[in-house]
Order: sequence, then structure tokens, then C-alpha cells
Amino acid sequence: MRSFRLFPRNLDKLESPTLVNADRASERNEMMKLALPIPFAPTTSNVIKSTSKFSVRISRRFFSAYAQKEQSQHKPGMVAKYYLPPWFSVAPMMDWTDNHYRTLARLISKHAWLYTEMLAAETIVHQKDNLDRFLAYSPDQHPIVLQIGGSNIQSLAKATEIANTYGYDEINLNCGCPSPKVAGHGCFGVSLMLNPKFVAEAMSAIAANTNVPVSVKCRIGVDDHDSYNELCDFIYQVSSVSPTKHFIIHSRKALLNGISPAENRSIPPLKYEFFYGLLRDFPDLTFTINGGITSVDEANAAREAGADGVMVGRAAYNNPWHILGHVDTAIYGTPSSGLTRRQVLEKYLVYGDSELGKYGRKPTLRDIVKPLLHLFHSEPGNGLWKRKADAAFRNCMTMESFFEETLVAIPDSVLDSPVAEPPPGRGDLFDNIHKLLPPPYRTIEEAILCA
Ligand SMILES: Cc1cc2nc3c(=O)[nH]c(=O)nc-3n(C[C@H](O)[C@H](O)[C@H](O)COP(=O)(O)O)c2cc1C
Repeated sequence: MRSFRLFPRNLDKLESPTLVNADRASERNEMMKLALPIPFAPTTSNVIKSTSKFSVRISRRFFSAYAQKEQSQHKPGMVAKYYLPPWFSVAPMMDWTDNHYRTLARLISKHAWLYTEMLAAETIVHQKDNLDRFLAYSPDQHPIVLQIGGSNIQSLAKATEIANTYGYDEINLNCGCPSPKVAGHGCFGVSLMLNPKFVAEAMSAIAANTNVPVSVKCRIGVDDHDSYNELCDFIYQVSSVSPTKHFIIHSRKALLNGISPAENRSIPPLKYEFFYGLLRDFPDLTFTINGGITSVDEANAAREAGADGVMVGRAAYNNPWHILGHVDTAIYGTPSSGLTRRQVLEKYLVYGDSELGKYGRKPTLRDIVKPLLHLFHSEPGNGLWKRKADAAFRNCMTMESFFEETLVAIPDSVLDSPVAEPPPGRGDLFDNIHKLLPPPYRTIEEAILCA
């Protein structure tokens, strides 16, 4: 077996593997202000020179949403204005977008916005003595959005107030999850779409307890409540009653009876035309498109067609190197980190060893390594590396021994090459979308007036 000297002792340390806790949040925010080279300019000077072959469309609406928040609710050290806007974000995914995945994602892309897994408001409220386990994260992970779920306004408000001290950059309410565990109990997740008045009140309560922007992630409908007008009614009520100006639209409806959450992410058809209808009908709001986008080409095509932002879920998890590796250059027009996968793993090792067993038995080596298992997606040696990983979980106690035992499967040429050209995507995905838009939305009042 080839001896594998992957990690020389004089590694650059991963910048502060320590997690952010409440006490250190504002100190960290001050640091981020100094560390980030590109200020978030909320006015007309929002032009960033693109070094990529793609043009970066600058959305005034994104800036105005954040600028408005900044003017009305600015408190020192607690605003998202120093980051580039969420032109590209990684979706919230339960059991997937945990601290470990987000650490890996941030090593690959400096600018992608990262969402946490959904955290139930009740969990935050009832785990007061154990909050770091649920809410702490490394400062490297900014910009980061906390997604919460819940159906009790007091709990949502309290949870937001508690989470506020951790310095998240945005608080998002889950109105899109069809899991029976979530949607079936107490009107939670996507069931909330059926009660826009409640969502508006909940968002007002959330906003009143935080000084960062708030947003809603939803579907385009639920069961038979799937007309474009009903979707618009939801957006209209929530945005006119609460300070919510940013909506992330998973562009398929949810079916509450009979199919699994995974099927609910593939069976109901995508209707991107509803998303683009919202952009036309609510020009003062900000919309991020989500669902079925699998490459940076497609993400750029969505933005070229008018989307303010693009959120990618499964593709960013299952193929992080080839998706996230192009975000900084192709979406943001900034230089890439230039790291190879060997260097990413070196930095991840520092993080992993500092995390192992932090909360008693958790996280385990398997927990920490889990997101890495997709790092060599479709590369030579990938299958062998996964088989070796399975064996290594049984006898390795440290990240270093895990890597020494498994990475012999991956050729040096793979470990040491920078991100290659993006894989071809469907750059024409949205070419005809504006011909397919639903008829313009009319509020009930307008419909009565026109009748
Ligand atoms: C394993 C998994 C867990 C998910 N958990 C959440 C969640 O906690 N909150 C949420 O709003 N959406 C959740 N989703 C949905 C994603 O955020 C996203 O909307 C969906 O996967 C569609 O985007 P994609 O086609 O890019 O994957 C989850 C998806 C997956 C695959």
C-alpha cells in the first residue's frame, strides 16, 4: 500500500475551528466586517466586476430589500450588509446541511449563502441549556441563514429572540416541508401556506425579535390549493402585513396525502412559470428560485431570466465540488479559493478533530465524514474510497487515521487538481419561460373593481 503523507504538520490552520456561541457572536460580527473585502453596497454602486465568462446581473431589488432592513433595524454588528447578496444559496436540508456539511461547503465557496437544517422553534425554546449544540456554528460559515419551523407564534418569537444572539444573517420560516412528521402535526411546514394570515402574524413576531432580515421558504401550492392566484394571495398577505420581503419558492406544489417527502421533491411537476409570474406581479419583493436546478449554468440561466437568487439543494450536497466549486467565479464573478481537494481535506481535518466527541459521544467520526463522501462524485477511485470509508468507520478514531486509511483510493491527479470546467448544464432551461407565464395576479379588491 502506498504510504499516504497527506497532512504535513505545518498546515495552515482552518481559521478558528471554534464554534460561535452567544457571547462571542457580536465580536465575531465585528471581525467579519473587517475580514470581508467587498462591502455590501445598498445603493446604486452595486456593480461588481465579473471575471467570469458569465455576466453577473445585479439586482437592485435585492439591494433595496436589505437596504431597507438596514435603515430601519440596524444595530451594530448584526446585519447582513457586508456579504454579497444571496444570488446563490444552499438549501436547508434536514440531516444534511449540518455544521459539518456547511464547513465543507464554505471551504469550497466563499460567497454561497448557507442555510441550516430546519430547527423547530420548540427545540430552541426547550433546550435553553444546550443551545450551542443546536445553534453554534463556525464564523467561517457566514453568510448563514437559520431556518426555523413551528406553528406557535409565541414559540417562534421566543426562538428567534434566543437565536438572535448567535448572529445569523437572516431568519427563514419553513412553509414548504411536506413531511407528515412536520406538516401533519399542528399546522407546521407547508400546511402553513393554507393560513397566510397566521404566517403574516408569525413573520411579524419573528421580525420583531430579530435585527436581521426575515424570509419565507414555501412551495407553489398544497394539494388542490394550487392555482397561481392562491399562491399570489399567500405572498400578498404575508408581504403586506409583515416585513417579509424575500421569498424562496420551491417551484412545485406539495401533496400532503400519500407520498413520501422524497417523492414530494420529484413527483409534483416543477412550474417555474409560477415563480417568474411572481417576479412580474410583485416587483417590490425579492424572490429566490428553488427546485430541480443542478448546475451553475442553470443557476445563471435562472438569474438571466430575472430570478433575484437561486437556491440549490440536492445537487449541492451530492456533488459539492463541481457545483459549489464554480459559484464564486461563475455566479459572483470573484476569484475562486483556488484550493485543491487535498487542501480542502487538510483544512477539514483540523475542523473535524476539534469537533469529534464535542457533545459526549457526538459527533462521531461517521457524522463528521458524512459530507465528505460526496467530494469525489464520479471521479476515479470514488467507489473504492467509499468502500474503504465503510471499513475505516469501524476502526479509526481520528480524522487523520481515517484519511490515511481511505485516501489511497483517490489518485493524486484528482486530489491535486483545481476545480475543472463546470459540467454542462441546461443553459436554455428558462429560455421560453416568459411565454408561459400565468395571467397577471389581481387581488380580490382589484377583481371586484374590474367586475
Ligand atoms: C434530505 C433533505 C432534507 C430537506 N430538509 C428541508 C428542511 O429542513 N427545510 C426545508 O425548507 N426544505 C428541506 N428540504 C427541501 C430542500 O430545501 C429543497 O427545497 C428541495 O430539495 C428542492 O431543491 P433541489 O431540487 O435543489 O434539491 C430538504 C430536502 C432534502 C433532500
